[in-house]
Amino acid sequence: MGGGSGDSAPSDSGTAATGSEAVVPAASAAPAAASSAPPALVDNTPAVPEPVAPWVAAAQSRQKIPYWAIPVLAMLPFWGAIYMLTLDTPTPTELGAYEAGDEVYNNKGCSGCHGGAGAGNGNNPALIGPTGATKTFTVPANQVTWIALGSAGYKAAGLETYGDADVVRPIGGGMPGWVDSLTAEEIMDAILHERSALNDEEFSVEMWRDGFEEALSALLPADKVAEFTAVLDDWESDPPAPAA
Ligand code: HEC
Repeated sequence: MGGGSGDSAPSDSGTAATGSEAVVPAASAAPAAASSAPPALVDNTPAVPEPVAPWVAAAQSRQKIPYWAIPVLAMLPFWGAIYMLTLDTPTPTELGAYEAGDEVYNNKGCSGCHGGAGAGNGNNPALIGPTGATKTFTVPANQVTWIALGSAGYKAAGLETYGDADVVRPIGGGMPGWVDSLTAEEIMDAILHERSALNDEEFSVEMWRDGFEEALSALLPADKVAEFTAVLDDWESDPPAPAA
């Protein structure tokens, strides 16, 4: 058929139908490729993996948990338990009542008026000597209400004097009340400091108990009385001891 001639003259068959037929595969390959190019590209996209970012590659090749971390992680529960124990132990106060009293007396305002050694100055009476705190207050009970309420608080309660019966002193004014600015424990600690460190008195829970609730209940609200009493109860079960 003409195919032979077509085959024999491919070069001049550019115009020939046979030539075009013969060339169809090649000629249509281009359009076919062109028409199928977009899908081919789409197919190729996943086949050519995106360049992996260096940090991703590093993350993938890195060992997930470094060897040194294994004992560290293994010890965590123990450290946690030890940490919890250290939190629990010193809950009440780090300082004993004597040291805490020293702290309150010297850093919360008492020493500013009464002097570090309790010698007093000007209108601020001495807390030591013949008219010192242990002479004015033969037992601590009334000293608690005095320091809690101060001159104005005592006067507001209708009192003209402070101190125990045989050493009563007229209220001249100027002693602040501390019940709102110090805790019951801080007031008790400060009194312990005045009686022991400044006046060499030995702690005795019986002496502290003497008239305690009675004196406090006469001048302080019940919730405050309970707070002070709770401190005294603590001191009874665990008596304050001077620092070694
Ligand atoms: C702003 C000065 C001032 C400060 C601060 C102060 N006081 Fe006084 N204190 C006085 C004055 C003034 C008096 C006498 C009050 C009166 O006569 O009404 C007094 C009286 C006293 C007395 C009775 C002393 C006695 O034997 O006659 C004691 C105890 C006392 N104060 C303890 C304390 C304690 C404890 C603190 C600290 C928590 C404190 N004071 C802080 C001014 C002060």
